[in-house]
Amino acid sequence: MTVTARDKQWWKQAVVYQIYPASFCDSNGDGIGDLPGITSKLDYIASLGVDVIWICPMYDSPQVDMGYDISNYEDIYRPYGTVQDMETLIKETHARGMRIMLDLVINHTSDQHAWFKESRASKDSPKRDWYVWRPAKYSPTGERLPPNNWRCNFGGGSAWEWEEETQEYYLHLFATEQPDLNWENAETRKAIYASAMEFWLDRDVDGFRVDTVNMYSKPPTLPDAPIVDPETPYQPAGLIYCNGPRMHEFLTEMNVILEKYGAITVGELPCTPDTQRVLKYVSAKAKQLNMVFQFDVVDVGMGKTHKFETTPRNFTLPDFKAAIDLTQALIRGTDGWSTVFLENHDQARSVSRFTDDRPEYRVRGAKLLALMEACLSGTQYVYQGQEIGLVNVPKDSYPVENYLDIDSSLFYNMVKERYGADNKVELDKAFAAVQYLARDHARVPIPWNGKAKYGGFSEAAEKAGKEVAQPWMKPHPLAGEINVASQLDDPDSVLAFWRKMLRFRRDHADLLVYGDFKDLCPQDKDLFMFVKEPEHSGEGVLVVLNFTTEEQTWAVPSFAELGMPHARELVPIMTTHGGKSPVGQLAAFEGQVYLLK
Ligand code: GLC
Ligand code: CA
Repeated sequence: MTVTARDKQWWKQAVVYQIYPASFCDSNGDGIGDLPGITSKLDYIASLGVDVIWICPMYDSPQVDMGYDISNYEDIYRPYGTVQDMETLIKETHARGMRIMLDLVINHTSDQHAWFKESRASKDSPKRDWYVWRPAKYSPTGERLPPNNWRCNFGGGSAWEWEEETQEYYLHLFATEQPDLNWENAETRKAIYASAMEFWLDRDVDGFRVDTVNMYSKPPTLPDAPIVDPETPYQPAGLIYCNGPRMHEFLTEMNVILEKYGAITVGELPCTPDTQRVLKYVSAKAKQLNMVFQFDVVDVGMGKTHKFETTPRNFTLPDFKAAIDLTQALIRGTDGWSTVFLENHDQARSVSRFTDDRPEYRVRGAKLLALMEACLSGTQYVYQGQEIGLVNVPKDSYPVENYLDIDSSLFYNMVKERYGADNKVELDKAFAAVQYLARDHARVPIPWNGKAKYGGFSEAAEKAGKEVAQPWMKPHPLAGEINVASQLDDPDSVLAFWRKMLRFRRDHADLLVYGDFKDLCPQDKDLFMFVKEPEHSGEGVLVVLNFTTEEQTWAVPSFAELGMPHARELVPIMTTHGGKSPVGQLAAFEGQVYLLK
């Protein structure tokens, strides 16, 4: 397919900015981010060049998994605000010409949701079948066992929980407090659509980020997963329970509603390495989802049996490039669409993961990644704090006790249980992995002002003379060095560079957003060089990125090698370093873009 045939849509060339309510901005000084705090920063967000905001779950919730355990879809977690605050946020977002997406979390609810309370009450409850209940299995010696060997997504335990009262297990692919809804039941599905989707579509939201979108349909026999970790009875089972047989039937059903409102969707698509399978979700013809988040890139360097069973920087540049190629390949010759992201609330900071977060390199690393992302095809997502180049919290100034996320704490506890609480070697290893990959890094409160209390997280309340509480998570130890206020008026800051990159991307959308990607040297361990291929034989771009702390040289490929035999000129149009390096040379972590014409 030529690029001309690629259908252009507003949401394809949009930039989406993701907000984590608890950690974005606290308006009233209680140390917890809130909806009025988000509203107060809309001008800042719009000034970045953002088209859409995506708000992570702000619904009522006991917060076992930070709001991904919802107890009422139609109400707001009180510390964040009220439904009215949400209506104000929606209105104010629209008033600035931006759109708003919510997080749609409907694979599971909280165990405190009224539906589950009713379901667990008795075997005859009219809502018993709204969740996945199964009888126990018994070993030859009569020991009670869960229905299969699936491991849940947090820690190392079973995905099944035994209920003494009604003598059955219920399924929870995530925390024990997040029971899976039974999508086989049509009445349940209808209730989900009404409460989680239509309630908010009627309040004018423009779309959804769809949580764990490929887990609704489970294989009917719930078969065991293959044993990859012989040390435990519970095995990672994502490849078994994702992409079940009725997935597309359910998505087609949801689409009837989405289409009625013209709502857009981006689905979270874990455990789906096969491009053909991914395409079934994002092919325009299939009318399932507008786009998805593939995991290839963000999973680079993660452990195989457990994400934290790894050591820092356990990957090579070719691994990283191959993963990017997979996501870029999705649109090559297809009617599908892709996404560009390196961060979200489930990932550690990209500068720390993929470049080098030592003080002398982190600004360069942040700019290099901003330039790279701006040149990749697909809808671009930016996560709060990424635009100022936030890095992981350092190991020596942020002890493991400060990590609050269920994912990291259950893993750390599992290591303690396995090896003993005094096994320093194993615990150090676990802490190193957590310091490298934990979701907590993305959840540390945003440092708005390095000179204000707690990095200015509750600045407005402080200015209003209120007493300000310590944020719910300990502030970033580097808030004095990396914060919004100090970058706002600095033309050399990461923030200024991100603004410039988002403009650059928009100005060259035909190539940067819609073009075809080709990696020129997939095996190179130091450099990432790619072209974005042009419509017909018009202009193209060449992107060269140095992923090392050393100066590098590169041989300028011929126009034929670049796939553009008709081109005559190589014109530098963007650089992270102010254009000081001559063609063929790159400073440490420098990135350059050339127009081929
Ligand atoms: C998704 C969310 C993650 C959450 C999980 C369970 O992966 O992004 O934060 O823990 O789903 O809802
Ligand atoms: Ca607050």
